[in-house]
Amino acid sequence: MSADLFKDIVSHSKEYGFIFQSSEIYDGLSGVYDYGSYGVELKNNIKAYWWKAMVQNHENIVGLDSAIMMHPLIWKASGHVDAFNDPLVDSKASQKRYRADVMIEEALEKIMAKADKEIEKARKRFGDAFDENKYKTENPRVAEYIQQYNTINQKFVDAMGKGDMPALKAVIEELEIADPVSGSREWTDVRQFNLMFHTQLGNIAGEEGKLYLRPETAQGIFVNFLNVQKTTRQKLPFGIAQIGKAFRNEIIARQFIFRMREFEQMEMQYFVQPGTEMEWYNYWKETRMKWHRALGTPESKLRFHDHENLAHYANAAVDVQFDFPFGFKELEGVHSRTDFDLRSHQELSGKKLQYFDPETNESYVPYVVETSVGLDRMFLALLSNAYTEENVPDADGKDSTRIVLKFHPALAPVKCAILPLLKNNDDLTGLARKIFDDLKFNFLCQYDEKDAIGRRYRRQDAIGTPYCVTIDHQSLEDQTVTIRERDTLKQERIHMSKIREIVADGIDFRHLFA
Ligand code: GAP
Repeated sequence: MSADLFKDIVSHSKEYGFIFQSSEIYDGLSGVYDYGSYGVELKNNIKAYWWKAMVQNHENIVGLDSAIMMHPLIWKASGHVDAFNDPLVDSKASQKRYRADVMIEEALEKIMAKADKEIEKARKRFGDAFDENKYKTENPRVAEYIQQYNTINQKFVDAMGKGDMPALKAVIEELEIADPVSGSREWTDVRQFNLMFHTQLGNIAGEEGKLYLRPETAQGIFVNFLNVQKTTRQKLPFGIAQIGKAFRNEIIARQFIFRMREFEQMEMQYFVQPGTEMEWYNYWKETRMKWHRALGTPESKLRFHDHENLAHYANAAVDVQFDFPFGFKELEGVHSRTDFDLRSHQELSGKKLQYFDPETNESYVPYVVETSVGLDRMFLALLSNAYTEENVPDADGKDSTRIVLKFHPALAPVKCAILPLLKNNDDLTGLARKIFDDLKFNFLCQYDEKDAIGRRYRRQDAIGTPYCVTIDHQSLEDQTVTIRERDTLKQERIHMSKIREIVADGIDFRHLFA
């Protein structure tokens, strides 16, 4: 997808009420966005899809809604006070600030892309006889790219693992990374920057009253682990799911709603017997990929990416990456978090966070496998995937261009538009209103009588409405209406008593779980 197309998606989402820059009339607040009327509907539908998949479809997964503000020691125990840092570096020429790790990853990807390009050329040249592994070792140029990638990547992984900032700077220098603004290679030292926002509790001054805005929803789940387990009488393995806001003071918030300072997460912590965590890690990895694919996202746009730099709490981690308009990037993380969090909270709070296993008559701290997907990233992935410009016949049968958001009908913000053919005909508008009033309790409908029917169809296409129902003169005689399907443009004459059934079936979440 081109950069222009990304710009089109951003402006479409503003023009059609999906997303607005926060505080726009004051020139905006960087990295913070508001969701408009259609945006909030789409967001609610994504949440519903996730919640149904987790809580409703699993007897052993239950929900939670914990507070954003928590005791500050929670963030000490979780490691966020000491280790939730990003390495930042400034360009001496432009004074622009960058994330050192992101710049290094991008530069490494470029080296690998050069090797991939050569390999693809050779694949085309040699056809079926092509032996990729042999080519990688025998072609000097490709072998050199791979060697360079591996050597520098190892230095990068080691530096990140040890939190060695001078070593990270040396990697930037070795890769000869230049500031994209000034072209200069003059960098400051790399420094650690803690990403947590903080605020002050009541009238308590200083460190004592310091509170953090949660940077992940997961900790609310960990500290409630026993409350939930006891009140829901769950046995291991079981999960706790939560959707909620998280806050990170990102060094550079960018790429629209991809990297925000205030965002939402949909997280599920799955508590398992120690020793079984890898089995569950693989299970959730595959299960989450199926959840993404069920939305109709092409296989080529989703892939796994194993973590080389593990977070302080994980012994295995993988990203589900989506092919965003700016390339493959993390959409969701699946992490094997060991017993790190529960054990740390147990130690710092002095309260036991152990599960009594009735089968073995033993108490132990469970291990945890986490699935964590950003709601806003999910929104952006769906929007980018759904956004389509295409030529279709207009009302007169002539070719015209339409912009249509091809969301899965279960997730579309508005499900059905009710359109009287003419505005100034009380019989038509009266019947259309009656149909609208009858359907509005079942799903979000929109009544629209303004402009020619073709323009109204285009407006509905632009927000992704899967069904449009038109009421015309014939409707007054025989109670039939025309129902138009968004993607196929198929129009069918049906009795108006059938509308509810057709729409309800088309938008049913069941199709996503089939
Ligand atoms: N509890 C684990 C955790 O928070 P993470 O990989 O830091 O792990 C999980 O975040 C997900 O949250 C990411 O895959 C991404 O979808 C989303 N996310 C993280 N930072 C974000 C940001 N600044 N803006 C939007 N979404 C973000």
